[in-house]
Amino acid sequence: MKKHQKLLQENKLWAESQIEKDPEYFRRLVKVQSPEFLWIGCSDSRVPANQITNTEPGEIFVHRNVANLVINNDVNLLSVLDFAVTILKVKHIIVCGHYGCGGIKAALTNHDHKAILNMWLRSIKDVYRIHRSELDNIKDPHEKENRLVELNVQEQVFNLAKTSIVQKAWKEEQRPHLHGWVYGLANGLLNPVYEIRPGTHIEPLYEFDDL
Ligand code: CO
Repeated sequence: MKKHQKLLQENKLWAESQIEKDPEYFRRLVKVQSPEFLWIGCSDSRVPANQITNTEPGEIFVHRNVANLVINNDVNLLSVLDFAVTILKVKHIIVCGHYGCGGIKAALTNHDHKAILNMWLRSIKDVYRIHRSELDNIKDPHEKENRLVELNVQEQVFNLAKTSIVQKAWKEEQRPHLHGWVYGLANGLLNPVYEIRPGTHIEPLYEFDDL
């Protein structure tokens, strides 16, 4: 059997076992989704949002990209964010990075990763520049990389707070609460490293005064 056929076969078995455990399972899910969480994570195959939080389909709205970046002109990310915040009315947004992230490792080199990836990884280099004084003082390369993973999550959470989508929801409905977490591939644990509560005053430059 080909590898992809195995996926289809496993899918059949999974659907059958779900119905066996709970005959209403799919009928319930098909009606509505009302997740309380938006998850912005890394595309890395080792960090599946539902599995590591022991949640079910319907509980987390998910967006993933390389190194869990929140880029202010990424239409894909912004569409997900707008839908999750404005329509689904999520209460929490979690940006989840992970130690050992290939995107972060790549951004720490001066290697040419070719046009598209160079463009994407540039944002991580910007995070390094913003936090250069702290990062340059860390001598151990592994520790430096881990700290950049954490600071990257912090900056992406801050990027969420800069959007009018989030600020409008803060003003009108005192949500969502923004969280920055880092997942440990080695121990399976989530480490909360940063948060911004609804209504927090951020750098005035980014605050809209006429929402
Ligand atoms: Co990664």
